[in-house]
Amino acid sequence: MKEHARQARAEGRILGLVPTMGALHEGHLSLVQRAKRECSAVFASIFVNPKQFGPTEDLAKYPRSFEADTSKLAAAGVEAVFVPEPGEMYPAGFSTYVNVEGPSDRLEGRSRPGHFRGVTTVVLKLLQIAQPHFAYFGRKDAQQARIIQQMVRDLNLDSEIVVSPIVRESDGLAMSSRNAYLSPDERKAATVLYQALDTARRELHRGVRDALELQSAMRRVLEAERLASVDYAEIVDAETFEPVLRVSRASYAVLAVFLGTTRLIDNLYMDFGEGEAPLAQL
Ligand code: PAJ
Repeated sequence: MKEHARQARAEGRILGLVPTMGALHEGHLSLVQRAKRECSAVFASIFVNPKQFGPTEDLAKYPRSFEADTSKLAAAGVEAVFVPEPGEMYPAGFSTYVNVEGPSDRLEGRSRPGHFRGVTTVVLKLLQIAQPHFAYFGRKDAQQARIIQQMVRDLNLDSEIVVSPIVRESDGLAMSSRNAYLSPDERKAATVLYQALDTARRELHRGVRDALELQSAMRRVLEAERLASVDYAEIVDAETFEPVLRVSRASYAVLAVFLGTTRLIDNLYMDFGEGEAPLAQL
């Protein structure tokens, strides 16, 4: 990977990297498509990173579809795919970790201790190996993208982090490799995340700015679905991921919801343009 990347840079090409854990869907491919538009060489990685899974999480059963993934990436115009083994990324004696303080401790970080430390450690390694001009991440994992941007800034890395919109199924469910775990009934019920965020979006457009009011509106929708159990449903600042009282600058409505044993996340980005008109993107 290092050699391929070095070669592409030496040829004066603009290198884009799309890191993934495989089980690729249209969400991942939208990152590749964007990278193809903005770069002249696009590389991807597939690595189910053990360091970002907790001891009781789904590492062993995480969906793996290597053949299908590599043909999707090739068809989308990816030039090289890096598929390291865990022992290659973390050989015996590996002992350096990166931890971004602050936003790593809340929400996903609180529900999944150690998760972001695993993410930032592997992403730093991938950025060091490929040294891409641009690295592409999805807003589906908004907190992850924010933490990676902070790491890049704090550690003076030369890659620019590009964050791309959420790709959804036709009924609104955000695409995720973990959707494959859902039973047919859970899959139907899973649209409740989108419905809750859409409710917040409509309330915002009606002029509601009070975070508690928006939060309660989301909870009412979520709690009406008996298959769903809420881990968190909050309104947070888009920079710090700390809770806000009022939506008066860029913020996220963020959700983590269990359907059976499957934990899904989703979010709504809320920004304000000229004259306080909210722009809320699902
Ligand atoms: P993974 O879950 O495979 O996701 C890879 C990238 O695809 C992430 O940047 C994620 O935000 C993006 N993505 C996933 N679903 C999306 C959707 N519906 N719309 C748009 N983008 C979507 O996130 C990871 O892997 C890992 O933590 C990783 C960054 C690779 C580090 O191990």
